[in-house]
Amino acid sequence: MTQPLNVGMIGYGFMAKAHSNAWRRVASFFPEVEHRPVLKAVAARSADKVGAFADVWGYESVETDWRRLIARSDIELVDICVPNHLHKEIALAAAEAGKWICCEKPLAMNAVERAGVPNMVWYNYRRVPAITLARQLIDEGRIGRPYHYRAQFLQDWTIAPDVPQGGAALWRLDVHAAGSGVTGDLLAHSIDTALWLNGPITKVMAETETFVKERLHQETGKVLPVGIDDACMVMARFANGSLGLFESTRYARGHKALKTLELNGEAGSLFFDLHDAQWLSFFEYRTPAGDKTSSHTTGWRKIHVTSFEHPYMDHWWVPGLTIGYEHTFVHAGADFLKGVETGTPAEPTFKTALQTQKVCDAILRSARTGQWTGTAVTS
Ligand SMILES: NC(=O)c1ccc[n+]([C@@H]2O[C@H](COP(=O)([O-])OP(=O)(O)OC[C@H]3O[C@@H](n4cnc5c(N)ncnc54)[C@H](O)[C@@H]3O)[C@@H](O)[C@H]2O)c1
Repeated sequence: MTQPLNVGMIGYGFMAKAHSNAWRRVASFFPEVEHRPVLKAVAARSADKVGAFADVWGYESVETDWRRLIARSDIELVDICVPNHLHKEIALAAAEAGKWICCEKPLAMNAVERAGVPNMVWYNYRRVPAITLARQLIDEGRIGRPYHYRAQFLQDWTIAPDVPQGGAALWRLDVHAAGSGVTGDLLAHSIDTALWLNGPITKVMAETETFVKERLHQETGKVLPVGIDDACMVMARFANGSLGLFESTRYARGHKALKTLELNGEAGSLFFDLHDAQWLSFFEYRTPAGDKTSSHTTGWRKIHVTSFEHPYMDHWWVPGLTIGYEHTFVHAGADFLKGVETGTPAEPTFKTALQTQKVCDAILRSARTGQWTGTAVTS
């Protein structure tokens, strides 16, 4: 039996677009989900801009203060798509009002758990079918004992020193709005995926760099010190004994979103590159039955993750046809709703996402002190 679910969106930027698209499409492509999202209201400060967004995406109403949206009795799910420093206050208010909460990363909070409302953090890369397939192969024992995990997330959009900081479009460069630089923005995604695929990270040793030390602040008009990290490199130890290597930067000239991961184990290896998102590379040295695969045809296998037997793909087109970035959010929305309906919450919840935050915090602490730093990650 289906039932409507009234969504209240906060923000009208990049992620609000990705999530609105997901809520609109989820029931069409995942009809087994019982809840039918209704785009009830969207909130942001500028009435003109939020009104235009509501028209494009089909929201029934607008609010210019997120508090009014949360206070509305007809809003059941609050979706938080605003800069990082606002997540906590909005999520706490939504939890107190008994709303379901889907919040953008980064985030760490126990209060929402205590409120007992359904919740999820949008770490969408887990829902790239090739990455979900990687997890399936790991669970099947196809990689065996893991030795190395490495991941990169590289961009190049802040190299110019005349890029200002702060304001509506550039809050990511303002430490007061963003909290951190590439560590919370890019590396957090790599860490979430790593924890999901390879288990807890116990300690880290990190270096960060801020290449451009001062930038014009758009809101104050003053040239101010830059408080965010422009680049971050990390050595890590996983609880399973494997070694981790992570790199994220906005100074890799030529790279817009080079996001890769690789896992090397005793029985096999996996490699993923977001530029080739429908492919997963797999090297099988030994099968789970113990047979060695070495022969003159041994080599990396590039799996086109587009068949019905691949994760999520039976909900889309015929085998061989591809999906893209926006579909990862549809998958997250579908998993979240199914989680509520079955009583097995979709991951990562706020509680699980706290582990990623602890690792990111340990990384920034290590970069400050120059010491190996424990993460206090428990599971
Ligand atoms: N999962 C991902 O892949 C991914 C990608 C990009 C961003 N994010 C996260 O999503 C969040 C939003 O990022 P974005 O790229 O959409 O940013 P954005 O700058 O495109 O949009 C931010 C929105 O927040 C609104 N806003 C700012 N202050 C507000 C306030 N006080 N009240 C109401 N609205 C307010 C702005 O008007 C804007 O609509 C961030 O936390 C970011 O880390 C996640």
